Amino acid sequence: MGKHILVGVTAGIAAYKIAELVRYFKKLEAEVKVVMTPASCDFITPLTLSTLSQNPVAVDLYDSKTGEWTNHVELALWADVMIIAPLTANTLAKMVSGQSDNLLLTTFLSAKCPVIVAPAMDLDMYQHPSTKRNLEQLEKDGVTVIPADYGFLASGLVGHGRMQEPQQIGAFVCDFLASSDEFQGVKVLITAGPTYERIDPVRFIGNHSSGKMGFEIAKAFLNKGAEVILVTGPTKMVLHHPNLHRVDVMTAEEMLGEVQKVWQQCRIGVFSAAVADYRPRNTAEQKIKKNAEEMQLELVKNPDILKWAGSVKKQQYLVGFALETSDAEAYGKSKIESKNLNAIIVNSLEDAGAGFGHNTNKIKIIDKSNKIYSFELKTKQQVALDIVDFIRENYEI
Ligand code: CTP
Repeated sequence: MGKHILVGVTAGIAAYKIAELVRYFKKLEAEVKVVMTPASCDFITPLTLSTLSQNPVAVDLYDSKTGEWTNHVELALWADVMIIAPLTANTLAKMVSGQSDNLLLTTFLSAKCPVIVAPAMDLDMYQHPSTKRNLEQLEKDGVTVIPADYGFLASGLVGHGRMQEPQQIGAFVCDFLASSDEFQGVKVLITAGPTYERIDPVRFIGNHSSGKMGFEIAKAFLNKGAEVILVTGPTKMVLHHPNLHRVDVMTAEEMLGEVQKVWQQCRIGVFSAAVADYRPRNTAEQKIKKNAEEMQLELVKNPDILKWAGSVKKQQYLVGFALETSDAEAYGKSKIESKNLNAIIVNSLEDAGAGFGHNTNKIKIIDKSNKIYSFELKTKQQVALDIVDFIRENYEI
């Protein structure tokens, strides 16, 4: 990643979780520096955070032994982003009123980079009109707020005020760093998830697709300014964004119907859905009873949605997926031809960590000229960024 992330820590009990946040960024190969308020050192030691960040931790405005001044301006300019977590009501109030009685505050006031905060406080403090007013003002000043979560609080109470978990904060900051307007004004159609083909009112034929890959691709496009139509089969995935239009479907035929309504308005299509190849010829209207010793289910072929999109494609860039158990490259290449694609993303079940049920994926992208781009095993979030970067470099050619 190579980005410079400045983590600011203030004196809330959630400060103990910041060790994990620093680890999260380091694992992504970010450069991390930490600035702490003096009071926060009672909750987590600078030694812990300097060890994890592999950088000295800044706490004091000057070194009392040498009398040397700590250069907060330099620290602020170094950062690509500053994340203050946890943010206490006290530091929040000082940030809003421009006070600068510690190094964290002087650094904040000198920061030219985007600043993100993750508040953490007891529920009454979080709900207090002054806190609400201060958070509103902070947002007006251009600071991004990751709202506190609902849950168990250090006071023993349960309510809003709990800092988001380090994983969530880390992912938010990474999304933020990846955001841009590269796809401003570009409409993208994405299919995701499995399809469920009805046998009777309570049964279906489905598959293990979680939808995660498609949703991560949608998120990556949205973060780069695209307008996204996401046609998805049944999934637990959640995604909110003002430029997202989500259409939920169940079967392959329903998915085809929704895709046919919108494909011609779109510039780019990424079809990641694990569409069932077959569906029962007939759907029973009533639940099928287990009277017979044997039963046969007659299946008929589902429409190939991607193939349809390829067959009517004009000046559009169309990408398909292929999940193969053998000869992944050869099958991938033949699908580019048969479905009239611009590129195909191939993942082979021969690779450990790839495919259904994993948080990771290992892909190859094959383009129309049969050029193969190989990628390492990565999280699906990072794979999505690779895919979107590849499309950005190629869709206008
Ligand atoms: N796909 C689709 N509609 C279908 C089947 C597949 O849109 N009915 C899309 C998938 O979303 C994926 C690509 O086609 O992008 C590859 O699907 P896959 O099942 O691997 O390919 P098939 O052409 O079905 O080939 P095979 O079953 O021989 O592997």
